[in-house]
Amino acid sequence: MEPSIDPAVWKVLDAYHARIESERPRIRRAVEEGTFDATIDEFLLPVGPESGRLLNILAKSLKAPTILELGTSYGYSTVWLAEAARASGGRVVTMELSEKKSAYARDMSKKAGLSDVVDFRVGDAVTMIDELSEGLDFVLVDLWKSLYEPCLAKFHPKLRSGAIVVSDNMIEPASAREAVMKYQAAIRSKPKMTSILVPVGSGLEISRYDA
Ligand SMILES: C[S@@+](CC[C@H](N)C(=O)[O-])C[C@H]1O[C@@H](n2cnc3c(N)ncnc32)[C@H](O)[C@@H]1O
Repeated sequence: MEPSIDPAVWKVLDAYHARIESERPRIRRAVEEGTFDATIDEFLLPVGPESGRLLNILAKSLKAPTILELGTSYGYSTVWLAEAARASGGRVVTMELSEKKSAYARDMSKKAGLSDVVDFRVGDAVTMIDELSEGLDFVLVDLWKSLYEPCLAKFHPKLRSGAIVVSDNMIEPASAREAVMKYQAAIRSKPKMTSILVPVGSGLEISRYDA
């Protein structure tokens, strides 16, 4: 347990960590049997504890940030982001295609006492980004990898100066490589953007925008 993190939040993170461990052999079996793609929605597909902690540290260092999460899944990264948002006076808008996953995530955030700082939205993030007003301070990009680049085109004009963008799965899985490399080239070619690949978790591209 970390002294700076509320016990109710830590209890929820521990429950996720137990589920992550219990899913590992099932995922391995599904990959071996070729059923992973058909059963993918059963799994958390989380950023993992190290990336979660890094997201929390980065977001907490901002002042009252507006945080956008693309790909809520079952809400693991949402809890790390929401804890940082609460500590820094900010808020999280998180987007997920699946109603069932979003409902689970909402329930876990409630258990962690973080409901007040999270706005759960269900639907296609590529479309829903258009509904957001300008002024994003932090973005986590973690939905299906072919959507990274289209989402970047949508959220980039809404970034505030000093905004941080973190994108997951830049190193693993190998099957995502082509799509994430396109995204990496796109974000690195944006003016006033500084970007670096960090080998934490499944590989994070961390980018900063200075207007
Ligand atoms: C890798 S998971 C996200 C994991 C989550 N960030 C975490 O660490 O717990 C990707 C999620 O993106 C969602 N997704 C895929 N395409 C989407 C879209 N167009 N709009 C919203 N969510 C989408 C999937 O349903 C899936 O739950």
